[in-house]
Amino acid sequence: MGGRRPGRVVISEAELEARVAELGRAIARDYAGREPVLVGVLQGAFVFMADLVRAIPIDLATDFVGLQSYEGGAKSSGQVRLVSDLSLPIADRHVLIVEDVVDTGLTLEYLRRNLEARRPRSVRVCVLADKAACRQVPAALDYVGFTIPDVYVVGYGFDYQGFYRNLPYVAALEGG
Ligand code: IMP
Repeated sequence: MGGRRPGRVVISEAELEARVAELGRAIARDYAGREPVLVGVLQGAFVFMADLVRAIPIDLATDFVGLQSYEGGAKSSGQVRLVSDLSLPIADRHVLIVEDVVDTGLTLEYLRRNLEARRPRSVRVCVLADKAACRQVPAALDYVGFTIPDVYVVGYGFDYQGFYRNLPYVAALEGG
């Protein structure tokens, strides 16, 4: 891992728990009776998604897409690839994309276009962490957990070269 390790805590466990509960309540209110499909973006969103769905007490379905935008390091390649697709049809469904972080916005806009081509009834976005200062393309975000500075983070689903996703909090990657 090149000597780079989790350092300063950026979002604590308690902050994550409280904010996920708030997001869940807002989503439940907005989507009551609509049976949304929550689409988690692998791998980064799997921890957030698991906590989020348990905080949304309405009927909903879940599915996942696998996207790759970074080649395993800490720098954007600017290229996005669909590496695994949804298993459910989403035509006529209300889709809520669940993302770990929006940085340049390239991954999200690629996914939004891809999903909209399947004629869902609506597509909205819930993101855990917004690096708002890093945007290269505009991204409309409907639910934002935290706005974070332009630091590379690990933990709670975020990885560095495949490691640290299992930390129960979000920390800045330091050293190296
Ligand atoms: P974007 O296309 O630049 O918006 O990047 C979004 C994707 O880059 C996310 O889904 C993550 O997989 C990855 N990413 C961006 N910033 C970080 C970070 O700080 N830690 C871990 N992954 C990140």
